[in-house]
Amino acid sequence: MKTRAKPVWRLVLSFIALRSCAAFYLPGLAPVSFCEEGTSGDECQSTIQLFVNRLDSVESVLPYEYDVFDFCQDAEEKRPSENLGQVLFGERIETSPYKFNFNKNLTCEKVCTRTYDISAKDDKKKLDFLKSGMQLNYQHHWIIDNMPVTWCYNVEDNQKYCNPGFPIGCLVTPDGHPKDACVINSAFNKKNMYYLFNHVDIMITYHSGATEGWKGARLVGATLEPKSIKHEDENKLTCDGPPMEIPNEFTSNTKVTYSYSVKFVENNSIKWASRWDYILVSMPHTNIQWFSIMNSLVIVLFLSGMVAMIMLRTLHKDIARYNQVDQVPSGNASLSYEEAQEESGWKQVHGDVFRPPRKGMLLSVFLGQGTQIFIMTFTTLFLACLGFLSPANRGALMTCAVVLWVLLGTPAGYVSARLYKTFGGEKWKTNVLLTALLCPGIVFADFFLMNLILWVEGSSAAIPFGTLVAILALWFGISMPLTFIGAYFGFKKPSLEQPVRTNQIPRQIPEQSFFTKPIPGIIMGGILPFGCIFIQLFFILNSIWSHQMYYMFGFLFLVFIILLITCSEATILLCYFHLCAEDYHWWWRSFLTSGFTAVYLFIYAVHYFFSKLQIVGAASTILYFGYTMIMVLIFFLFTGTIGFFACFWFVNKIYSVVKVD
Ligand SMILES: *[C@@H]1O[C@H](CO)[C@@H](O)[C@H](O)[C@H]1NC(C)=O
Ligand SMILES: *[C@@H]1O[C@H](CO)[C@@H](O)[C@H](O)[C@H]1NC(C)=O
Repeated sequence: MKTRAKPVWRLVLSFIALRSCAAFYLPGLAPVSFCEEGTSGDECQSTIQLFVNRLDSVESVLPYEYDVFDFCQDAEEKRPSENLGQVLFGERIETSPYKFNFNKNLTCEKVCTRTYDISAKDDKKKLDFLKSGMQLNYQHHWIIDNMPVTWCYNVEDNQKYCNPGFPIGCLVTPDGHPKDACVINSAFNKKNMYYLFNHVDIMITYHSGATEGWKGARLVGATLEPKSIKHEDENKLTCDGPPMEIPNEFTSNTKVTYSYSVKFVENNSIKWASRWDYILVSMPHTNIQWFSIMNSLVIVLFLSGMVAMIMLRTLHKDIARYNQVDQVPSGNASLSYEEAQEESGWKQVHGDVFRPPRKGMLLSVFLGQGTQIFIMTFTTLFLACLGFLSPANRGALMTCAVVLWVLLGTPAGYVSARLYKTFGGEKWKTNVLLTALLCPGIVFADFFLMNLILWVEGSSAAIPFGTLVAILALWFGISMPLTFIGAYFGFKKPSLEQPVRTNQIPRQIPEQSFFTKPIPGIIMGGILPFGCIFIQLFFILNSIWSHQMYYMFGFLFLVFIILLITCSEATILLCYFHLCAEDYHWWWRSFLTSGFTAVYLFIYAVHYFFSKLQIVGAASTILYFGYTMIMVLIFFLFTGTIGFFACFWFVNKIYSVVKVD
């Protein structure tokens, strides 16, 4: 009991020291010690369980569970519990029949045999599904000790690339073109033939604790090499022979025997804490990534420096001029006073600039939800940056984002209510309900439709009914009441004070030049922010659709800050030009100016779809665009809110500095 009652400050301290000292691990990420059979006890275990995750493909958006394919199944199938993020991302982890003991090399061990009889209709179906999996390049994702089992192979320039998955098999097309994985072996050369990878050579690297005074060993690496071997005698496997060929036409009975070998290698120079490094470092084009990010950073810093300078100098001059004119309203100066009056300028619209916007209800709702998304993104990225949400912590990123979103209902309600009150709105009930329901409702409806498609296709990404209910419960049971609380406080507060009074009669807006018209301004506004994120966007889209691991959260956080700065600056700049042109409708425009970045995001996603992905099939295409729409909507609210508040701050600032008679 005594050891349990640790003082709180010690817990906090060890939490802070998390990054530097390795004595404290997050739950689920603590090292597991293994030792040889017979010596196992409380401190270490001898059996190594291989888990299998769902299979996915870059050519299809639909992931499938391991069970759906006719591979060897585990007799006593168990599923480790999964978090919300994993379920939402379609991860389905289950145990596999591949089980072995620590440090016991195995050679050519049989797993199971599957036979396909031409007279059985069911068998044809199973084999066809397996073939279509090979044709679409579906990949296995195996897990040992919470680590992906990687398949490392040489790419150009003698570089090694470690893929955290491996294909089921491959197809040589009728025109003799080997698809993807078939390139690895020149023996795969028969036209219209499928080569199934029915054998794997697994190599497990471990770090022994013998020299460091702890019992057992920790696994620091797991790689495998898929092979295609036709086993002649299923009871006496030799693991040599011709490749396992499955012809396109199912004309004769087929028998597939699955087998594996395991080899244990000691390497004490790899630390357990850095065992993921080899996967992350061997990602292709890491250097290009670094370079392009630095490049865009420099450009953005340079641009925003310029913008800031111009703004400061021009504004400073304007304010000095206006105030000077006000101070000397007689004699010689009256001429310049008139001059200044005649000169168009942002001061002229002081009586209109705080006139409440049209459709203030919708704007305030968007801003409330945008605030929610902004804080959620910021916190998630910050935590990811500290290493809490690394890829080793499966599904944590998504879980964190969802939980944060739910808990952040209060700021959303508050911001929405306060602004709505400032806009002079009176339908506060509608405002609260829309804040809690509008955008989450759109996202949920989209998500639900996607789920229906996934469900019809039998994909593992289909959310189980229970999870769907759980999401609704989180939304209506926690998020909505929190929004109401926020809205209550927002309405109780007085509306935001404005530095200048609004005139009774709206002022005529003069004829605008092309560049100060609303639409061109809005279209221009999104270019700068988009320009500094699109490289990062490429990697994010790659990680989502091509299933590459994303780990550069430090960079992402930097890009987030850059996006924040550019969105604000671009909006302020355009807002200034519009006010100078005496167009005072800035409320919506500031939101849409930076929010237009989302439209570029959509265009980029379309471009990505056609140029980088080889997605085939109507269901996959609908899913791609369905998910993209959710992303675009969230991004729209996010960037729009940044732009609005930047402009809001700016307008308040400049009109509180000038003197108005
Ligand atoms: C397993 O195989 C590896 C590589 O061939 C070898 O270094 C190691 O000693 C073997 N381990 C055992 C326990 O035989
Ligand atoms: C251990 O791993 C390191 C890093 O991957 C490698 O450079 C080294 O050659 C390995 N040592 C042995 C004995 O395999």
